[in-house]
Amino acid sequence: MRFFLRLLGALWLATFVVSGGFAWYERHSERTKQIEDLHRRAALAADAVREASERLVARGARTGYEKVLNRFGRQDRAIAIFDAFGSVIEASAEVRRSIGPISPLVTEAIQRNQATRAFATVNGRTRFVHVVPLQQDDGPIGAAAVLLDAEYLDTAEWDLWQRTAVRIGVLTLLLTGITWLVVRWSVTRPMARIAEWTRQLKSGKPVTLPPQADVSLFGPLATEVTGLARTLARARLAAAEEARLRLAGESLWTEERLKQFIEIRFGERPMYVVSNREPVSHVYDGRGGIAEVRPASGLVTALEPIMLACGGVWVAHGSGSADRVAGERIGLPTPDPAYSLRRVWLSEQEETGYYYGFANEGLWPLCHIVHERPQFRADDWEQYRAVNGRFAATLLEEMEKAEHPVVLAQDYHFALLPQLVKQNRPDARVALFWHIPWPNFEAFGICPWQDEILLGMLGADLIGFHTQFHCNNFLETVERTIEGRVDWENFTVVRGQHRTWVRPFPISVAPDDAEPLPARAALRAELGIGTEWLGIGVERVDYTKGLPERIRALRRFFERWPEFRRRVTFVQIASLSRSRIPRYRALQEEVREAVRSINEEFGERGWLPIVYRERHHDHAEIRRYYRAADFCMVTSLHDGMNLVAKEYVAAQDDDEGSLILSRFTGASRELRDAWLVNPYDMEDMAAAIHDALTADPDDRRSRMSRLRSHVREYNIYGWAGMLAAELARIPQPSLQRG
Ligand code: F6P
Repeated sequence: MRFFLRLLGALWLATFVVSGGFAWYERHSERTKQIEDLHRRAALAADAVREASERLVARGARTGYEKVLNRFGRQDRAIAIFDAFGSVIEASAEVRRSIGPISPLVTEAIQRNQATRAFATVNGRTRFVHVVPLQQDDGPIGAAAVLLDAEYLDTAEWDLWQRTAVRIGVLTLLLTGITWLVVRWSVTRPMARIAEWTRQLKSGKPVTLPPQADVSLFGPLATEVTGLARTLARARLAAAEEARLRLAGESLWTEERLKQFIEIRFGERPMYVVSNREPVSHVYDGRGGIAEVRPASGLVTALEPIMLACGGVWVAHGSGSADRVAGERIGLPTPDPAYSLRRVWLSEQEETGYYYGFANEGLWPLCHIVHERPQFRADDWEQYRAVNGRFAATLLEEMEKAEHPVVLAQDYHFALLPQLVKQNRPDARVALFWHIPWPNFEAFGICPWQDEILLGMLGADLIGFHTQFHCNNFLETVERTIEGRVDWENFTVVRGQHRTWVRPFPISVAPDDAEPLPARAALRAELGIGTEWLGIGVERVDYTKGLPERIRALRRFFERWPEFRRRVTFVQIASLSRSRIPRYRALQEEVREAVRSINEEFGERGWLPIVYRERHHDHAEIRRYYRAADFCMVTSLHDGMNLVAKEYVAAQDDDEGSLILSRFTGASRELRDAWLVNPYDMEDMAAAIHDALTADPDDRRSRMSRLRSHVREYNIYGWAGMLAAELARIPQPSLQRG
């Protein structure tokens, strides 16, 4: 209330000062103009009266003055003629009996033989009096006075002040009303909501996120307070979850537990993640604005929760069209940052050689057994080396002030980076996580730069793969390719003084604790799916993902079991990826054509077997599909892990869904209760779809229930915790920074 009154007081004062000031100025300039006008009119009239009466007075005439008075006198203009002693000879009737107040003016005009003028009240009215001396031979012989009615000046002034008072009154009322409404809507209500929210928070009731305050009004303060409140809410939820788990005797990994674990293991040592793909890209949205986009990347899905939990710096390629405008270093997530993103800018040539060339036309097909011939070009290799050097330099710059930093390098884009970092910062703990499979040593042997790649990787203290099988492949490759001792008992590689631990860490996703969604059927209706069953696939269009194989399997399913036509819709969410590589463009065409063909052949009025959605979908949208879908198909020909499978399971809030999963994914080693398929075997996949839809409900539910428990238990926080634990366990000689 006091704030409101103070605000109002200030507004009233401003209104009063401005309106009063302007009124005063208006009155002043108007009055000046009116007085000048009076002067002019009075002087003209007085001269005329002087001319007409001077001769009469000079010859001492007793009559003739009435004519002068009649000629020049008017209702608003009185005339008086005086002799040399200032006595009235003749005067207009309305002033004749009360001429006294102007006598001093008359006397002064005669004595000084010059005109005088002033305002005077004559006969109860304000008049402007102008007196001119009458002369003979330049000597005064009397005077003539003109009295103009000036009463209207006072009336006009009074009117002006009255108008001003009314204006101030109306403005004040209006301002009071508007201010009251604005304060109520923009301040009191939001504040009351925040206060209510805070009360609930204090009372220990479970609360959702705090209501948003108007950032434009409260500026950074609002952002900070809201951020603080959110952090509190998160901390509270995390603590509640911890307590719940403790009571239940469970030892689940949570965001909070990971945070504490990292703190205990690494203390104040800061964490650095390096990956090619950035967690958030800024892109022009086509409407003149800039939008934040989360890329379709399993790596980002997995690592972001860790950065949210532990903070630190994430170094990545700034690849968004508007990244340079958004900035080289930004806090994420907005508006409540928990960690920093440091972008590395690459030239067209660097990106072509390092990313499209060596990483994705060389290492990618080399590591995936999909019968795609790797392309090894010396130019690409040079760029790959150079870009690894650039990322290492940026990372070293970021770590300049950090003591014993912890580095988590990600994926096949940075095989050389661990060695480059360790050479410069032996005090750093460096882990490299390889998100894709590792082939057997013969397959790897076709890479012309296999030695350099292995030596670069072995600069790390710890190398992680998704499965023990890939660790074994890697160790065997090392053993048969370079000099160094593989210790199979401890799964380490020893080269000189340096030892690298090689361990499996099956990556996972964060538990799904986002807002609840409507039930499956209601959600399907919202998504415009009218069939009894919905299937879902979510992929980057990549030849490792088995998309044409999946479409062929769906075709076979509708052929073998025609009774399912019109009753099953399969939605394929596809995000385009690496489109500058001809093989990817060809695949995009192939998939579109395959969808078109099946839809043409089987589609009927009001039903298409496959709904193909080829655009970027954010996680919230995908989550709705996951939740609505009765089955999800993951049919990779070869995949390190495949997080879509785990995301689908994590997104379920009942046990009604089914997962059809390629046995060539890392995920299939853990998710044994999925319907495991060979994606090269069309009949097998078609049968799996049929089995998933017609399974005994109890069997289906118990499968999904076990899958859900597994993904909940082995979640991304556990992955990071295990990796951190292993990294912290590695003995490190005490090193001074060089
Ligand atoms: O699977 C390897 C990987 O790097 C993932 O980590 C990521 O999901 C995917 O490839 C994304 O590829 P890109 O960044 O080239 O679009």
